[in-house]
Amino acid sequence: MNKKIIFLFCTVISLFTVHAQTINILDSSRKVSLRGLSVVDDNVFWASGSSGTVVRSTDGGQTLEWLTVKGYEQRDFRDIEAMNANFAYIMAVDKPGLILRTMDGGKNWNKVYEDTATGVFLDAMAFNKNGVTVAVGDPLSDMKAYVIYRKNKDAEFFRLQKEQMFAQGEAFFASSGTNVQFIPGTDEFVTVSGGRISRFHHLKMNIILPLKQGTESTGANSISVWDNENMYVVGGDFSNDKDATGNACFTTDGGKTWQLPTQGPHGYRSCVMYISKNKLISCGTNGVDISEDGGLTWKNISTLGFHVCQVSKNGNSIFLAGPRGRIAKLNFE
Ligand SMILES: *[C@@H]1O[C@H](CO)[C@@H](O)[C@H](O)[C@H]1NC(C)=O
Repeated sequence: MNKKIIFLFCTVISLFTVHAQTINILDSSRKVSLRGLSVVDDNVFWASGSSGTVVRSTDGGQTLEWLTVKGYEQRDFRDIEAMNANFAYIMAVDKPGLILRTMDGGKNWNKVYEDTATGVFLDAMAFNKNGVTVAVGDPLSDMKAYVIYRKNKDAEFFRLQKEQMFAQGEAFFASSGTNVQFIPGTDEFVTVSGGRISRFHHLKMNIILPLKQGTESTGANSISVWDNENMYVVGGDFSNDKDATGNACFTTDGGKTWQLPTQGPHGYRSCVMYISKNKLISCGTNGVDISEDGGLTWKNISTLGFHVCQVSKNGNSIFLAGPRGRIAKLNFE
């Protein structure tokens, strides 16, 4: 080959590889469903799920430490929030409502919240930099959103009494622990609901989302908040994950109005997250999508199913977790 051809050849190769993303499976050997994921930095991440399972890595996923939380082997830990390699909280769905904390890397767990009241069912939780914590659950017979709140990491949780009324058949999904999020730099949180009706809730705002809704399996599953104006929501119908109608929407005015993407993700999606202002990742049981234009158009990069995807706080490392104990890292080439 002459030099020109070699140059052309290399240029073509690099054009094709610059934006390539590959999903690198780290483990898929356990019969558990993982829906909780918290990525602290490029090295430390935690995941959680069914059968009392917690997974921890401190080396970017090269080694995974699988733990079963003693005394809670039957519980499904649908959400986890980790501060570092030692300190993490896990939240169990179903009754009783339960949040546990470890301060020694998962060896010992202490109860920090329990509610045995009838009908309590926690769905997701969120932390902010100040240690403010919020967890949401399905409405009880009073039809108010069930929201518990903590002012800092040493305070007790208490139930907020002034929360919005939920509509009949409106609830939170517990699919990825991401339907409640703080607005960065504030102690204010937003939530998205689904079911008979799917809404965005923030303080006094209750806005109906332009997503598929009306039945128990439809509506919003996840919200990612870039700032107080730009937010992205995904969902759809988990009972028909190939259906891509009404599965994504976004706001650029803090939730007052919502727009549809021109090409949405390729199926029901349980989780969405901003990587940067214009770049997002979303996953569901039928695959993974990436957007590079702020969520206007999405490209499927895999048909492997995941429940949750999370980006490290510095935006460099992206991990996914899902059914059959599947844990993966997204690599950019
Ligand atoms: C994208 O989705 C289509 C349709 O399901 C599928 O045939 C294709 O293999 C997917 N692409 C990737 C990269 O997974």
